[in-house]
Amino acid sequence: MNKIVEVKAPNNPFLRGNFAPVDNELTEACLEVVGEIPRELEGAFLRIGSNPVFVADVEKYHWFDGDGMIHEVHFEGGKATYRNRYVMTKGLKAELEKGDWIWKGLNSMPDFANKLGPMKNAANTAMVFHNRKLLALWEGGAPHHVSLPELETVGEVDFNGKLNHAFTAHPKLDPVTGEMIAFGYNMFMKPYCVHCVVDRDGTMTHQVAIDLPKGCMMHDCAITEHYTLLLDLPVTGDLEAFMKGGPPLSWDPENGARIGVLPRHGGGSDIRWFTIKTGFVFHTVNAYEEGDEVVLEACRSNKTNVVGADSGTDSGVEDVPYLYEWRLDLKTGAVRERLLDGEYASEFPRINEAYMGRKHRYTYNARIAMTGAGMFDGIIKYDRANGTAEHVAFGPGRHGGEAIFAPRPGGTDEDDGWTVNFVWDENTRRSECVVIDAKKFAAGPVARIMMPDRVPYGFHAAWVDKDGIASQA
Ligand SMILES: [Fe+2]
Repeated sequence: MNKIVEVKAPNNPFLRGNFAPVDNELTEACLEVVGEIPRELEGAFLRIGSNPVFVADVEKYHWFDGDGMIHEVHFEGGKATYRNRYVMTKGLKAELEKGDWIWKGLNSMPDFANKLGPMKNAANTAMVFHNRKLLALWEGGAPHHVSLPELETVGEVDFNGKLNHAFTAHPKLDPVTGEMIAFGYNMFMKPYCVHCVVDRDGTMTHQVAIDLPKGCMMHDCAITEHYTLLLDLPVTGDLEAFMKGGPPLSWDPENGARIGVLPRHGGGSDIRWFTIKTGFVFHTVNAYEEGDEVVLEACRSNKTNVVGADSGTDSGVEDVPYLYEWRLDLKTGAVRERLLDGEYASEFPRINEAYMGRKHRYTYNARIAMTGAGMFDGIIKYDRANGTAEHVAFGPGRHGGEAIFAPRPGGTDEDDGWTVNFVWDENTRRSECVVIDAKKFAAGPVARIMMPDRVPYGFHAAWVDKDGIASQA
């Protein structure tokens, strides 16, 4: 049995330090606060990540393999309560019943004979709150409904029986129509991509197959008022290598790079492709329509070695993402693209989500420390109207994750609210939840809430306000 909590000093960076999983599920109120929690900040700050229970091979374990665990800071009346819970997936339940691992993970040959599926739906990547439900997402399978603030797993959702494909970890919510726009991709089998729309009441009302030359890794998308933007980028599926236990995907620049612009309710053949400079995007910031142009903002790197896709070459700094913009002219077909910040690398971009699909002014990015592998050492607030950026550095030995924007109730300005994120302090060996007034960003945290246990580095965050929590289905 390889229960990971019993593995001593595993020789794998994703099982060491603050990447290592935590053992306990806690609920703790009355947390110590440095500063003051704004009383208007009421709701749940949520961060999901990989927290493996069983690991088949500690050398081969990949960060994307671990079971999803949600860490929550629930704000109410100027006080905070911390909770952390596993997303109780069918796969994790089966492994707990067995008392050992069943799936080996991304760096090993998949078990296509497994009746429970060749891969475990880890439900570990991101979350969205739609149709009065919090959904924990993993791009290879169905979303899981999780209750708030308790974080009890209710079960998988299929959008009223319509979901018959994988579902991205990064769907987009239209703040006006209440629709959830998403896609699923399959790197090995056609259709390689299905675009879908879920209506505000949780029924999938629209599904169209998108024709791609090859199956590719498509992690994120973007929406505008009328269109969905899909990214056909050169990380393509490599089934032959995967069947032999190699990486499931490969860096494939010959495949080119394109952005597809698809009318939200259009057919698959209505997509219009715009060729762009070869590169890779994990995460988009937002997109919007301006005159004849569709504008996309995202974090772009020249290459990527995700899951060993480009392990044969030393891509080094070429893998580092920076804030970037593409302008696609729907009239002329012309593409203009440009770097927005070539000085500071960043990822995990978020905006005030009331501006999703509409022109935004402010972007909040996790700043990449250039001295450590993939660590974030601060947050950058970009102001696209005046071209400036404000930075909050976490300080020596302190690293954080994705910051969400929580709007102030009744606020009208785009940046009227707070950013919230977790920081791990290597000096004190404690985790904190950090709240910054977005309007006075450079002044730094207004509240640092001390967590009762370590919050491991993870993936994406979400904010659900108190009205959202009260509305749950
Ligand atoms: Fe992501």
